[in-house]
Amino acid sequence: MIEDIRQHVAEAFNQVNNLIVEHLRSDVDMVESIGHYIVDAGGKRLRPLLVLLTAQALGKVSDEQCKFAAVVEFIHTATLLHDDVVDLSALRRGRPTANAQFGNAPSVLVGDFIYTRAFQLMVQLDNMALLSHMADTTNTIAEGEVLQLVRAGDAASTEAQYLAVIERKTAALFAAACKGAAILAGAQARQQEQLYQFGMNLGIAFQMIDDVLDYTGDPAVTGKHIGDDLNEGKPTLPLIHVMREGSAEHSALVRNALEHKSSDALADVITAVAQSGSIDYTRQQAEAFKRAALNALTTLKESPSKDALKQLAELSTQRAH
Ligand code: IPE
Ligand code: IPE
Ligand code: MG
Ligand code: MG
Repeated sequence: MIEDIRQHVAEAFNQVNNLIVEHLRSDVDMVESIGHYIVDAGGKRLRPLLVLLTAQALGKVSDEQCKFAAVVEFIHTATLLHDDVVDLSALRRGRPTANAQFGNAPSVLVGDFIYTRAFQLMVQLDNMALLSHMADTTNTIAEGEVLQLVRAGDAASTEAQYLAVIERKTAALFAAACKGAAILAGAQARQQEQLYQFGMNLGIAFQMIDDVLDYTGDPAVTGKHIGDDLNEGKPTLPLIHVMREGSAEHSALVRNALEHKSSDALADVITAVAQSGSIDYTRQQAEAFKRAALNALTTLKESPSKDALKQLAELSTQRAH
């Protein structure tokens, strides 16, 4: 359970939540109302949890680490505001998305505010290695979202191309949460690299499960609609697998839906991914990346925080939301 994992860093976790609210402060009402709208809806706060647990596993959770954890959640929040506009998504965290509620322009602009606020906070941390890594990471995330846009509707997309997208748009931030905490803790380069690999592999597994849940999830639990990916023509792994391994009929059905960027045939596509073993395949791949994540932790010294990081990795593939 995520609550059990949070218990390891309970006090710092609360501090991070307070920092998030505190730093949403703006004199422009719309910034605060949209900022609070998405932040108050919660979210799992997995990325800040990664920062805090990594920090604790390497020594202690300082105020700086808490601030960095808030920065990482801000970057995540900004990407969600932008992502829901691009994906035409209407439901997130169990409520209408900010774009559905306030419109596209406000969502994009407040997303920019939150992105840049993250960098203001990072400057306060006064650590050039961290700033440099986070600048690269944010740039990579943006690149990933563009790459995904380019691939939308492309039924010829391969598993390798899919991986290139999810490494950038999602896993890069998981990796940066862990590596950033290691940089701040003054860890050796080798340790930083291993924690980076932990986050990267965990992030890939996490996104693969997200892509499974887009076909199999319960909106009452995930807080998101199903079928958003199909509607956007996203060639995610479940679909790539059907087109590669499924029957001619299933393959043609999926190809057609993808190319038309339409979820009209969602029910049939769900049947096709289930019957072609594509959900199972995607889950197996996610498990393999999760194992790679766990392997990257072998040199980290044993501690309750390390155990909690392992539990977080398990949770990333065994989750319903
Ligand atoms: C959603 O991330 C975006 C993806 C990378 C799949 P989360 O599932 O961590 O979203 P919240 O923060 O818990 O709402
Ligand atoms: C994750 O991809 C998006 C970002 C990392 C910005 P998705 O588009 O699958 O995320 P959800 O499903 O909308 O949360
Ligand atoms: Mg999306
Ligand atoms: Mg998704």
